[in-house]
Amino acid sequence: MKRPILIHPDPRLKKVCAPVDDLSDELRSLSDDMLETMYAAPGIGLAAPQIGVLSRLIALDCAKKDDGDDPRPLVMFNPQVVASSDERNVYEEGCLSIPDQYADVERPKVVDVEWLDRDGKLRRETFDGLWATCVQHEIDHLDGKLFIDYLKPLRRQMITRKMVKLKKERAREKA
Ligand code: NI
Repeated sequence: MKRPILIHPDPRLKKVCAPVDDLSDELRSLSDDMLETMYAAPGIGLAAPQIGVLSRLIALDCAKKDDGDDPRPLVMFNPQVVASSDERNVYEEGCLSIPDQYADVERPKVVDVEWLDRDGKLRRETFDGLWATCVQHEIDHLDGKLFIDYLKPLRRQMITRKMVKLKKERAREKA
């Protein structure tokens, strides 16, 4: 089931999310909803708080279909960056909660991430390039952090004002 995506600013996007301690069927079905919502958007990553669920759960798939890569849907419960490279990388980031706004963000180029998979199994993997950026961006969401928080205050305020306007327009359309 596709879920509505919250648009910044929203207090739920600023919260530190709670760890998942028991992998219930409910959480597994939530992770299916997140993948469906992410692919439909379309996007390459989605964090649970973006659909209003304040639990440490993210979904991502950065496979490049244009390069002929097969889809690689990943859902991660309690994901954690356990090591990161000194080498850094700049990517132009965007966010499904901040539509049509993009900005360069610098982050570690390579990260090791640990997480629980849908079967409750502990996994660890090294991510590089776009995957590394995406997984760090999504984990940030679980700590109430958005990519615009890396920007200079003026730029951040400008984007936030645009989003406030967008939300008003959407609310009017609904009314
Ligand atoms: Ni995002």
